[in-house]
Formats: sequence, C-alpha cells, structure tokens
Amino acid sequence: MIVRVPATSANLGPGFDTLGLSLSLYNRFEISPSIVQSIKIDGEGSNIPKLLKDNSFIKIFKEIYYELGGDVKDFTFHLKNEIPISRGLGSSSAVVVGAIISAYEILKVSYTRDLILSKAIKYEKHPDNITPAVNGGFNIAMIKNSKVFYIRHKIPNDIKAVVVIPNKAISTRYSRRALPKQYSLNDAVFNISRSSMLAGIFLSKRWNLLKIAGEDKIHQDKRMALLPALFAVRKEALKRGALMSVLSGSGSTFLNICYRDDAPNLAKSLSNKFREFRVLELEFDNIGFNIE
Ligand code: HSE
Repeated sequence: MIVRVPATSANLGPGFDTLGLSLSLYNRFEISPSIVQSIKIDGEGSNIPKLLKDNSFIKIFKEIYYELGGDVKDFTFHLKNEIPISRGLGSSSAVVVGAIISAYEILKVSYTRDLILSKAIKYEKHPDNITPAVNGGFNIAMIKNSKVFYIRHKIPNDIKAVVVIPNKAISTRYSRRALPKQYSLNDAVFNISRSSMLAGIFLSKRWNLLKIAGEDKIHQDKRMALLPALFAVRKEALKRGALMSVLSGSGSTFLNICYRDDAPNLAKSLSNKFREFRVLELEFDNIGFNIE
C-alpha cells in the first residue's frame, strides 16, 4: 500500500497560521507487513542517517496503529520523499498525515478527512499545513475547541507556482520563538485586511489583486532576516512577473504565484540570478492525500 501526500505552503504571507495551499510535489509512504522491521528512505532525507533510527513517520504510524487495535507486528517502511525537509514546504505535515492515513488503511478502518485532521492537529499544532495536505487546493483553516474547521477551494490552472528553495533549513519552532509576543493594532489591521483579501482573491479568482495582498507585519521580514538573500529573491520575483512573492510557511523556501504563461520566464530569471538555490515550477495540487 502506498499513501501519497502533497507538499504545502502555509501562511501565504499575511494569513499566519490560517491560509495554506497544496503543491504538486509528493512524499510517498509504502508499508508492508514483514518479519522484521526495516526502513528505507529515497530522495529527500536519504542522506540524514538519524532518520533511519529515529523516524517520526514510524512513531506516529505505530501510535495510531495500536490505538486502532492493531496486532503486534513488524513492517517494512519505504519512504520516497520529494518534499525538502525544514524548508517550509510541509514535509512534517506530510509525515503526520501520511502516517495516520497509513495506519487506518493498513487496518482497513474507515475514516473521513475530518477525522484525519482531528488526529493530525495533535501532532502538528498549526492547521495551515495539515489542512491542504489532507484536502489539496486552497484552504482557510482555524481551530476552535481543538477541532479544525476549514473552507477548501479548488485552484484553477491559469496560475502556477514557482518556488525558490534555499539550501539552508529554517526550523519552524526556532523561527517562531524569534517572533514578538505582541503586535500593535495597526499591524493587526494590516494583516487582517490582507489575509481577508487573499481569501477573497482565491474564491473570486481576481488574480491581479494578488499584487496588493502578499505583505504582512507578523512574521515574514523577521524570518527573512535569518537568510537576507530572500529579500533579493522577493524583489526579483516581483520584477519578473510574480503576482505574489511570499515566504512559504516559516521558510526558507519562497513561494511565487504567477500566471501560467509567465511561469517559465519567471523560473528562468530566478534560477539564473540565484544559482545557489533550487528553483521549481510547480502545479497546484487539488487532490490532497491519495492512496496509490
Ligand atoms: N504557520 C506556521 C508558522 C507554519 O508560520 O510558524 C506552518 O505550520
């Protein structure tokens, strides 16, 4: 059995811990019963030996598997990862969502998307990555009484993503700690207005308005200061056709959204100028998790 989970981009600039979308880059988790436990990692993370010994996919899978009443058994785990680790592209959400779904699938216990989200939020406290990982598309998510509520909307194919992935990892936990604990009323209004506008843009497809909706005063500039080249990435992307250029999740990746026809030139300009970073032209994913 193979569970496939997409990459995600959270915040979308001003929508801190609230807005997120899903991208066509995938982690595949293949599990089969076995006499002895083994793990193989291909792709992202395959060069990190620690992941073979201390692997959160296996931990979460086993916790849910036993919670569901599974027999004591060993498994072969084969993780085929396309999502870069600690780059703000939702690799840990993919692990959490993939592990939970794998446990339900292997035990043939039925589940809904809402049930998966209610389990996932215990492992990943912010709903803006797990919700698009489960649903695909553009998602507005919030938590009330420990439950995830969301509105999900399909992303049409007249826009595309061009992501710029630096070789430096940024840990979400570390970069959250560096954020202020309090913000002014003006800053709060600044973010609420742009985040609401952004949600409206995705629902109404008025993409030209993306140009005014990507700024925020909560987290981006403070986090980008950890890797100052990102300021130049944003400037160049906006100059070369991006409608919106924002830090993806807590970084270090930058997410640029542009009209489909502009994507090849935008990707080319960015990869010519930032040779040390990886630049990928990606479709938006509208499927969410999938059993292959
Ligand atoms: N919204 C989170 C943050 C990242 O910016 O810290 C994704 O869960």
